[in-house]
Amino acid sequence: MSLLQVKDVTHSYHSKKTFKWKARSNQVLTDISFSVEEGTCLGLLGTSGAGKSTLGKVILGIQPPQQGQVLFQGYDIYNADKRTQRKIRRDIQVVFQDSYSSVNPRMTAEQIISEPLENYQKLTTGEQRKTVISLLERVGLSEMHLKKYPHEFSGGQLQRINIARAISLKPKLIVLDESVSSLDMVTQSLILELLNELKDDFGLSYIFITHDIKAAFSISDTLGVLEKGKLIELYDSKEQFFSSKHPVVMQMRKSILAEHPRFRSLPTRVNNG
Ligand SMILES: Nc1ncnc2c1ncn2[C@@H]1O[C@H](COP(=O)(O)OP(=O)(O)O)[C@@H](O)[C@H]1O
Ligand SMILES: [Mg+2]
Repeated sequence: MSLLQVKDVTHSYHSKKTFKWKARSNQVLTDISFSVEEGTCLGLLGTSGAGKSTLGKVILGIQPPQQGQVLFQGYDIYNADKRTQRKIRRDIQVVFQDSYSSVNPRMTAEQIISEPLENYQKLTTGEQRKTVISLLERVGLSEMHLKKYPHEFSGGQLQRINIARAISLKPKLIVLDESVSSLDMVTQSLILELLNELKDDFGLSYIFITHDIKAAFSISDTLGVLEKGKLIELYDSKEQFFSSKHPVVMQMRKSILAEHPRFRSLPTRVNNG
């Protein structure tokens, strides 16, 4: 059984009625189906407004879809009993793009990372601190960061803290919504390296939501392209993506081909020899 199955998910947002007869509905997801296996990363690639974050929220259990189902380990996440739902909430974690707005500025790194532990595990103060220190170390920080506040960290460091919090309850799946998108290239590659290591060490699965093809390739095992709320294609390999004839994918490819000298069509060299 797949860890996660998304089945025929359709979702619309309804704008507030300006006039009684004029409630507008904006369909942002249409008949989305895919599955994620244990220990693998599904990249979801799409331009801004494609519906990626909405799909992320549907999977996280915070945006019930109008139609379709999300099954986690076979349980319908919106219709399971309370106990199962609580367990699922623990097993599916999230890291958002903007590390600063995902944390409370008045909380120390220790408090931020401790929050899920306090909700789910009753540890003694000493045990909890030990756990937080080992989580900090696991994401490349240390005990000296325990008492620091968000504004004292760089964007990359703060994203490491968000990752530490996300892995604190040993989840099975993490939704990474543009988690590296606002970081500079070097920091981005270091965080991707960390995510790859954690995935292997803990057998984690990821849904890696991004508009960045290169970032998607560096972490995903399978890749889906989302366009105007539709999952237009799914690929098992880079090669499949590169041989797709779908116009949206061809356009996406063009945007990286221009950056990649190896793929650019070079003018034929004049042979003087
Ligand atoms: N809470 C909301 N209420 C109404 N419309 C929304 C809401 N969130 C997103 N949308 C709309 O849904 C569409 C998809 O948004 P989103 O899922 O954030 O896309 P992406 O993450 O791919 O940029 C956009 O047109 C956006 O304006
Ligand atoms: Mg988004």
